Amino acid sequence: MSAEPRVELAAIDRSRLPAHVGIIMDGNGRWAKQRGLPRSAGHTAGEHALFDTVEGALELGLRYLTVYAFSTENWRRPPSEVKFLMNFNRDLLLRRADDLDERRVRVRFIGRRGRPVPRRLVELMEATEARTAHHDRLTLQIAFNYGGRAELVDAARALAEDAVAGRLRPDRITERSLHARLYAPSAPDVDLLVRTSGEQRLSNFLLWEAAYAELVFTETLWPDFDRYALYAAVAEFQRRARRFGRV
Ligand code: IPE
Ligand code: IPE
Ligand code: MG
Repeated sequence: MSAEPRVELAAIDRSRLPAHVGIIMDGNGRWAKQRGLPRSAGHTAGEHALFDTVEGALELGLRYLTVYAFSTENWRRPPSEVKFLMNFNRDLLLRRADDLDERRVRVRFIGRRGRPVPRRLVELMEATEARTAHHDRLTLQIAFNYGGRAELVDAARALAEDAVAGRLRPDRITERSLHARLYAPSAPDVDLLVRTSGEQRLSNFLLWEAAYAELVFTETLWPDFDRYALYAAVAEFQRRARRFGRV
């Protein structure tokens, strides 16, 4: 289904990899609709795409990959779809935790963990994080009940608490001190942000972290994405000239 040319691993310059790749996994519903299937079938089909992409990230030697699995806005979907996604993500973690652990992938979740995220799912997220915390080959960050604005609000609250407690002077607040209060402050900035399905927007993903990211949009619907599509995005990244405000 992909219109993109297939890019092989050999075409990538391994000395110039993005330090952190973010992916907005979009288009599951449209993939299902094209086949006359319910939207849930698109989410189910997206699991294979995700794990082939993780395999590609491992083959490339990427260190940080963050995928958008459920946004703070996705609660606005029909209750039946929200319920499906909660159960699906729980089952996916149960199915894939061994595999990720064996591949030495460190799994982390970014996003708000309180209600309405089911308690059982949060417990599984935390168990998976604890179990894989010692790995350092690839860090897979799963953005779940994640919103870039919510993350900045949470960081602002943490700064305010420190200020009120007298641990931080407001005039000493810097980009560094705010960054230190994000969900995953040890992750490097996002160098490459990929969105599938032809939509060209951020949808509240990694607003701070992707401030200087190269954006790559592909028409491929998420269930059709795979490691070769990831290589194509990295190849595109390697063709870009990054200036960071300089000339
Ligand atoms: C992305 O696919 C998955 C989630 C947002 C959970 P969509 O479900 O948004 O699929 P489209 O955009 O409706 O095709
Ligand atoms: C963004 O996709 C969220 C995820 C991929 C999890 P959406 O499909 O929810 O984004 P919008 O609503 O089209 O902007
Ligand atoms: Mg969508």
